Amino acid sequence: MVQILSGKEVSREVYSNLIPRIDSLKKQGITPGLAVILVGDNPASKIYVKSKSRKFESLGLHSKTIHLENSIDESELITRIHSLNHDGDIHGILIQLPLPKHLDELKILQSVSPEKDVDGFHPENIGLLSIGRPGFIPCTPKGIMRIFEHYKINLNGKHAVILGRSNIVGRPISLLMSMKKKGANATTTICHSGTQNIHDFTSSADIVISAMGVPEFLKGEMLKKGAVVIDVGINRVEAENEKGYSLVGDADWNSIQENISAATPVPGGIGPMTIAMLVENTVESAERIMVIS
Ligand code: GUN
Repeated sequence: MVQILSGKEVSREVYSNLIPRIDSLKKQGITPGLAVILVGDNPASKIYVKSKSRKFESLGLHSKTIHLENSIDESELITRIHSLNHDGDIHGILIQLPLPKHLDELKILQSVSPEKDVDGFHPENIGLLSIGRPGFIPCTPKGIMRIFEHYKINLNGKHAVILGRSNIVGRPISLLMSMKKKGANATTTICHSGTQNIHDFTSSADIVISAMGVPEFLKGEMLKKGAVVIDVGINRVEAENEKGYSLVGDADWNSIQENISAATPVPGGIGPMTIAMLVENTVESAERIMVIS
């Protein structure tokens, strides 16, 4: 039997631990607040942004979405971000990625104050993570680590193969899993589009983290018996239903379940954890700002 690693369930626990912290902030007159900047009309980004703000609202938190024209120029966007950096009601700022091509992503992410960078994408936070002294940790990798902790999946000395080298998932999860500390200490390998014979790597992995965005790429024959699969992919594929599409992961569930011991489902796996970690980082930011002021 494959053990289902349910992000839906773990995220519920995260929220119930956050409620007393939110109540305590509110008693002191502080409502944790998130500002999300969405540039353009990417349909997937619009859905992600909506589900984030809905979750904030359902928890009684402050959330503001700033939807900007695709054609906005860089200096105007940076001015908007600077004003959020100085806004006392805002404790977290999230720039929804991807940005339109004419905008310099690094320059935009760098203009977010590292103290409000609840996505952990500012180079200062990435640098701190890479030297093992994390500030804000990117939400998806942080959520994956929380799943390991909750289900007591031992990483110590294990070989983890990560498919995908993005700054959002692949690189930071490799850094987190290989940290020299309790709950980590794994050996990590990052495979990417330039890797030859991916099968040679996945077949020796105790844990496979797939963050490629290729529907049902990962098959049972690519995995070692008893492997743990963390499926970060949320891919839309055409389907004959009302919506005209369904969501599938990077792993082919029918094929992998013969071989593996545990896996995150899609949906209900890593997706809910990403949002839960965003809420947690925003609450943490509000607590830190309160201590400083
Ligand atoms: N685009 C896809 N995933 C993410 C995420 O976790 N944060 C942001 N800001 N943009 C994304």
